Amino acid sequence: MKVALFGSSGLLGSAVSSALRERSHSCIPYSNQVSVENSKKICLSDSEQLTRQLLDEWPDAVINCAAISSPDAVTKNPEFARAINVDGAIRLAEIASHLGARYLHISTDMVFDGSSSPYRSTDIPNPLGEYGIQKLDAEKGVLAVTDENLVVLRITLINGNSPSATRSPHERILRAIANGTPLTLFDDEIRHPCSAENVASAMVELMERPNLNGLFHWSGAEEISRYELGLRILDRFGFSHERIQRGQLKDHPERESRPRHLTFELAPLAGKLKTKPATLLDQMEELTLPSDLFDWYRNHADDSSRYVHKF
Ligand SMILES: NC(=O)c1ccc[n+]([C@@H]2O[C@H](COP(=O)([O-])OP(=O)(O)OC[C@H]3O[C@@H](n4cnc5c(N)ncnc54)[C@H](OP(=O)(O)O)[C@@H]3O)[C@@H](O)[C@H]2O)c1
Repeated sequence: MKVALFGSSGLLGSAVSSALRERSHSCIPYSNQVSVENSKKICLSDSEQLTRQLLDEWPDAVINCAAISSPDAVTKNPEFARAINVDGAIRLAEIASHLGARYLHISTDMVFDGSSSPYRSTDIPNPLGEYGIQKLDAEKGVLAVTDENLVVLRITLINGNSPSATRSPHERILRAIANGTPLTLFDDEIRHPCSAENVASAMVELMERPNLNGLFHWSGAEEISRYELGLRILDRFGFSHERIQRGQLKDHPERESRPRHLTFELAPLAGKLKTKPATLLDQMEELTLPSDLFDWYRNHADDSSRYVHKF
């Protein structure tokens, strides 16, 4: 299939780009500021250019991994974020529908408030912050465009290796250690992490399966607290557990927009795909050291023999 991929420079989009190549699909990558693999730069708020590009290319499928994906960035500039996260996503759905192209849109577990996990895709969302509100508005808008040839996939916290090497949990933790920034993670903030590679594989399967349409959930195989996930990452890279402070979300009322417990019920999708949710062990093994940290790592890791870099 010929696939227009938005957000190809991101943590998830870059994994989708690789998964498409592995399955011999042809990918037209789009990014916004960062160039990867000859990606064309386009802002999702530029509706005219989006339309022109897609009419010129006439893809068989459109995949949207583009977003202002940091809740803090959304809170800082909600109007601009809405133009990308909501209006741009809906515009892509409209153009894809016009072209008869399959549309895959990515959403988030942050549409839920975290009070009654595990969530099914039929449960009523109740986002706590602006990011979750925008992602929910996008879901509604996209699903209102058509109920054919369209998937909205909600996913959870993503582990993986991003092109900028700054986006995923291990990249943030390693950079904080390298910069000497104190790190506190909460043991009462529970997540159900997935891996970018595994989600990308599920997405390519969904793209290839036109009989699977609508709203689905996907995550990894196990739930874990943010603090415990931090410790797994420290183990992976041979750092001692003292590098991360243990905290509790309940002691931070200023973080009220962070859901406490977000996990997914994966039925019915898990029974329909060949891709299986990745275990935390698999997810940790995929993580690589950002190349700009090699020298620092050699001199500062507590036990650098724990990590062998795969080139
Ligand atoms: N990360 C997570 O833990 C997580 C969890 C659940 C759901 N999600 C969802 O998963 C999807 C992918 O997230 P991610 O973590 O891969 O995000 P990311 O690493 O921040 O990547 C975002 C992508 O969107 C592009 N983008 C940003 N602003 C844009 C604009 N104005 N116009 C066009 N493209 C723009 C970026 O391009 P440039 O790099 O060129 O700026 C980048 O390719 C998002 O829908 C996010 O909401 C993420």
